[in-house]
Amino acid sequence: MTQQELHQQSIDNPEKFWKKQAQRISWYKRPETILSKDEKGFDRWYADGEMNTCYNALDLHVKNGRGEQRALTYDSPVTGSVSHYTYRQLLEKVSKLAGGLQSLGVTKGDTVIIYMPMIPEAVMAMLACARIGAIHSVVFGGFASHEVAIRIDDARPKVIITATSGIEIKRIVPYKPLLDAAIDEAVHKPQNVVVFDRQFGAECSVREGDVDFNQLIDASEPANCVPVKATDPLYILYTSGTTGTPKGIIRDNGGHAVALHFSMEYIYGLKPGEVFWAASDVGWVVGHSYIVYAPLLYCCTSVLFEGKPIKTPDASTFWRVISEHKVNAMFTAPTAIRAIKKEDPEGRYINEYNVTETLRHQFLAGERCDAATLEWLQDKLNIPVIDHWWQTESGWAMLATLMGADAPPTVKVGSAGFPVPGYDLHILRENGSKADDGEEGLVCVKLPLPPGCLPTLWQNDLRFQRGYLERFPGYYLSGDGGYRDKDGYVYITGRVDDIINVAGHRLSTTEMEEVVSHHPAVSECAVIGAADELKGQIPFALVVLRNGDIDEDTLKLELIQNVRQKIGPVAAFKTVVVVKRLPKTRSGKIMRKLLRSIVDGETYTIPGTIDDPSIPEEIKQVISIKTS
Ligand code: COA
Ligand code: AMP
Repeated sequence: MTQQELHQQSIDNPEKFWKKQAQRISWYKRPETILSKDEKGFDRWYADGEMNTCYNALDLHVKNGRGEQRALTYDSPVTGSVSHYTYRQLLEKVSKLAGGLQSLGVTKGDTVIIYMPMIPEAVMAMLACARIGAIHSVVFGGFASHEVAIRIDDARPKVIITATSGIEIKRIVPYKPLLDAAIDEAVHKPQNVVVFDRQFGAECSVREGDVDFNQLIDASEPANCVPVKATDPLYILYTSGTTGTPKGIIRDNGGHAVALHFSMEYIYGLKPGEVFWAASDVGWVVGHSYIVYAPLLYCCTSVLFEGKPIKTPDASTFWRVISEHKVNAMFTAPTAIRAIKKEDPEGRYINEYNVTETLRHQFLAGERCDAATLEWLQDKLNIPVIDHWWQTESGWAMLATLMGADAPPTVKVGSAGFPVPGYDLHILRENGSKADDGEEGLVCVKLPLPPGCLPTLWQNDLRFQRGYLERFPGYYLSGDGGYRDKDGYVYITGRVDDIINVAGHRLSTTEMEEVVSHHPAVSECAVIGAADELKGQIPFALVVLRNGDIDEDTLKLELIQNVRQKIGPVAAFKTVVVVKRLPKTRSGKIMRKLLRSIVDGETYTIPGTIDDPSIPEEIKQVISIKTS
C-alpha cells in the first residue's frame, strides 16, 4: 500500500486502522476499546488494554528465540571502547536492576529520574523502570543543576539514577556532583540515588542513601514484568515551552509501543534483525523513541553512540560507525551533517568506508534542514536522504516520506514530506480557516492525535488544554509554521513562538531572558534565535543597562556564565549586545520578530504599531557583530 492509501485509511476509520496495528505487540489483555475519552475529555488509545513495554522490548524476543541477537551496540569513541549486548544479556541486566529498584521500594506509578551520559546503563535504567511500571524521567546531561532541580520538584522521584561522570569530547562532565547540587536546591528529596561508577577517577562524594549501580544489580533477584494499563504513563520528558518552566510531556505505554513498532516498518523501512542508529542522546525524544524503545520493540539492533560527529576523533566517525556495525538506517540532526561537511567538504571520509554496503536510508530531523546540507548528503551517499518532522509532544514523525510503503514519492528538497498515517494535518490561518496551497499558516493536526502522542502534560491538564487545544477547537496546535504545495508536500518554516532550536536542541528564549534580566545591571532584555550557519540557530541577547557603573565586557561574561550555570552549556549562550533601548509597540511589547529580521540581516519594515520608528544604531550594527 502507498503512503497516501495508508494515510487515507487511518483518517477514514482511525479505530479500525489502529485496532489492526495493535496486533503488532503482545498484550496481557487485548484492548476492546480502541479510542475513547478519559474523565477529563482527552482522547485515549486502548483504554482497557494491559501490557508491559519492557516485556515487548526484551522478553518477547528472547521467548521467540532471538535471545542471541544483538540488542544494543555501544560505541564510545570518547572512551575508545565498543561493546555489545544480546537480547538475553540485556534482559538479564534489566530484570536484576528492576529487582534492585523494587528492593529500594519503587513500585508501579512511582517516578524515577535518570540523569546519565550515553552509556548502556542509561538504557537499562529506562527499561528497568518500564518493567516494574515505574515512570521514568530522563534529564539531558547538558542541563545544569538548576534545571535538574526544577524537574526533581515537578516529578518528585522516589529514586534518581545517575553516573559519576560523562565525557564531552575531552571535558569530564561531573554528573554526580551536578546532581548533588540539584538535590540540595530542590525541595523534594529522593529516597535513594543509584550511582554507576565510570571509574574515571573523578572526585565524587558518597552521601547517605547512595547505592552503587553494579552492587545493586549483583545483590538483586530478577523482577518479572508488571502488567500496566495501556494508558498508564511510561515516561515524562520535560521540554521547553514558551514560559520559563519546562513542561512534562507524558507518554503512555500501549499507544506508544504500537505507534513506534508501526513506524519502524513503514517510516524507516526496516526489518526485525536489522541495525538502526539514531545519533542523538537518550535525554531527548529522539533518543527515547529511536535509540531505546522503537528498535527494541521491533527486535532490531540499536547503536548507542557516545561521541560527536566531529572531534571524536574527526569527521569520519559517523561513517566508521555505520560501516563497522553494518547500520541499515540512520537518523541524525542536520547540524551534525553541517559539522561534518564543514570539516570534510569533499566527503573524502565517506569514500574511505563502505557506508552504503548496508545503509539504505539516511533520516534527518530535529530542526529545519537547509537545502545545501540535504543535497550535499544525497550527493555523497547516493541513497535517499529523508527529512522528517516531529516534536517531543508527538514522540514519532508527523511528516515523512515512508520508506516502508509501496512506491515512496521522490523527496522534494526543503519539504519534510507528507502526513504520516494517523496525522490529519492542516495548515490553518490565524482566523482558523484553511490556508490555500502555498500559503503559509499554522501547522495543526485535527484531533484525535494518533497513538504515541502526548495525552496531556504531567500534572498540568490546564497547560495542555491552553497551550495546544484552545487556539483552534478540535485541533492540536503544533507551534510550527508551514505550508503545503500543490502536490501535497508540506514545508515547515519554523516555530511561531519563543522556542528556538540550537543544534537540534529545543530551548526557550523566555527562560534565558529570565536569567539575563535577573542580573542587577540589566534593566531589560530580549533573547532571540539568530540564524547560525552551523547550529541552525543560536541565542542572541540584546540588553539595556540600568544606570550604573559596570564594565560591559564584565557584564557580558557574567551573563554568559549565569545562563551556563542556570540552564546549562547546551544553551550555547555566547552572544550579548548592549543597546540603549529595544524597539517596542506602543503598548510596551518588545518587537522580537523585528529584532530577528534585523539580526539576520533580512529586509524589514517598521510596523505602524511601533513606539519610536527609529531603530537604534547599535541594534543595526549587530549584523556585523554576528558575522565577525
Ligand atoms: N552533557 C554535558 N554537556 C553537554 C552535553 C551533554 N550530554 N551535550 C552538549 N553539552 C555541552 C557541550 O560540551 C558544549 O559545551 P561547551 O560550551 O563547554 O563547549 C555545549 O553543551 C554545546 O554543545 P553542542 O551543541 O553539542 O555543541 P558543540 O559545539 O560541542 O558541538 C556539534 C557542535 C555540531 C558537533 C554538536 O552540536 C552536534 O553534534 N550536534 C548535533 C546535535 C544532535 O544530534 N541533536 C539531536 C537532537 S535530535
Ligand atoms: P523537539 O521537541 O526537541 O523534538 O523539537 C521539536 C521542534 O523541532 C519542532 O516543533 C520544529 O520546530 C523543529 N523540527 C523538528 N524536526 C524538524 C524538521 N524536520 N524540519 C523543521 N523543523 C523541525
